[in-house]
Amino acid sequence: MQNTYKHSTISNLMLFKQAEHASVFVAQEIANLILSKQAQGEFAVLGLATGNTPKGVYRELIRLHREENLSFGNVVSFNLDEYYPIEPDNDQSYFYFMREHLFKHIDMKPDNIHIPHATCGADSISQFCKDFEDKIASFGGLDLQLLGIGRNGHIGFNEPGSSFDSKTRLVNLHDVTRADAEADFGSLEQVPQQAISVGVQTISQAKKILLLALGERKSKIMNKVFNGEITREAPASILQSLPQVQYILDHEAAKRMQP
Ligand code: PGA
Repeated sequence: MQNTYKHSTISNLMLFKQAEHASVFVAQEIANLILSKQAQGEFAVLGLATGNTPKGVYRELIRLHREENLSFGNVVSFNLDEYYPIEPDNDQSYFYFMREHLFKHIDMKPDNIHIPHATCGADSISQFCKDFEDKIASFGGLDLQLLGIGRNGHIGFNEPGSSFDSKTRLVNLHDVTRADAEADFGSLEQVPQQAISVGVQTISQAKKILLLALGERKSKIMNKVFNGEITREAPASILQSLPQVQYILDHEAAKRMQP
């Protein structure tokens, strides 16, 4: 692609001048996985993300489905997280987000879609989380995990302080995360205090991890998690230690990256 360039020394960092091209690259990686698994008669097991960041990826996947006949018939998906509690038809739920931004436009089988259950009662959450992990394992783990990043370094809703050994569980949302969601919910009071999130360990075990960061507001944290120390205070920093990670950034998000 003409307006892409790769960091000269760090092969797992892809920089794109435009966010749209970064998104198209990620969508193509996902499509390539789906196609190669189709050729082998296997499921492609995807870990999916929500937020503003992956919207362009999902737009491109929908285009590939509509215009290039990409089928999602062999795709099994697990979403990273969901607010707790929240009703699935609440337009701020990630269930709603995924339906509107991807699932209703493609040919995924509803039974193959897994999103953390935000309506299960408090007494069944831990069983739900265990079952979610077991289900991922039953498909042989995640083939590809798509990640955004929070300004506090979270991945999924693994907030600062999350253990690198964590699995799917109920978490308390960090102030920065809730503040960033305030505009969408209308007021801070309406932003849930908790969420169900897959763990840092769950993410780390994915066979391939694509972290997409777009825009200037991600540049400070990207420099920290890419070049700084590996610390639970910035959970995405653990990705430095994993060989299967690729970072895909637009020019703005890479602004403060030190060489
Ligand atoms: P955003 O959120 O894509 O809306 O910036 C990313 C995240 O918090 O993981």
